[in-house]
Amino acid sequence: MSIDVGNYYPFRDGRIDEIENGLTESVWVERQIGRPVVKLLNTIPSKALMAAGRLAGSRDRVALPISGDNTKAKEIVAQLIDRIGFDSVDAGTIAESWRQQPGSPVYCTNPTKEELQLWLKKSTVLHLPPTERRD
Ligand SMILES: NC(=O)c1ccc[n+]([C@@H]2O[C@H](COP(=O)([O-])OP(=O)(O)OC[C@H]3O[C@@H](n4cnc5c(N)ncnc54)[C@H](OP(=O)(O)O)[C@@H]3O)[C@@H](O)[C@H]2O)c1
Repeated sequence: MSIDVGNYYPFRDGRIDEIENGLTESVWVERQIGRPVVKLLNTIPSKALMAAGRLAGSRDRVALPISGDNTKAKEIVAQLIDRIGFDSVDAGTIAESWRQQPGSPVYCTNPTKEELQLWLKKSTVLHLPPTERRD
């Protein structure tokens, strides 16, 4: 299993035409490396990852989206995420992982599980064009 924690920022990474034209970032990654990925951890800044872990059941426990085409792989990483103090939500297939890309409502907003479930559903408008993004 490969895990994709990456994000595409053209001013940092260089322009990638396929993504600029709408290809989901992790689909592009899969094509580059020639195998499927599970996308997670891209939505949480490293400082929050270090500080925001909570015991299961805590009201302020942050939840992370997990996207991918392999259900078993997603279950495994969900267990891993739980062990380091975070809830998770299955965010769908890798083609749907644009819902957790930069510019989406769940990106770097540290949602609870309930908020994450709601905001993923509300992500009906595609993320900002990459060229308009800033950290
Ligand atoms: N930092 C965060 O808070 C955070 C949170 C969520 C997601 N992310 C995403 O995770 C990814 C990595 O972020 P980071 O903060 O870990 O960046 P980073 O500290 O700058 O590390 C980037 C790593 O990628 C390597 N690298 C860069 N260009 C490469 C190339 N052409 N071929 C092979 N290796 C290359 C670098 O190697 P060298 O050291 O040899 O240059 C370095 O080890 C990004 O997509 C970022 O958006 C970051």
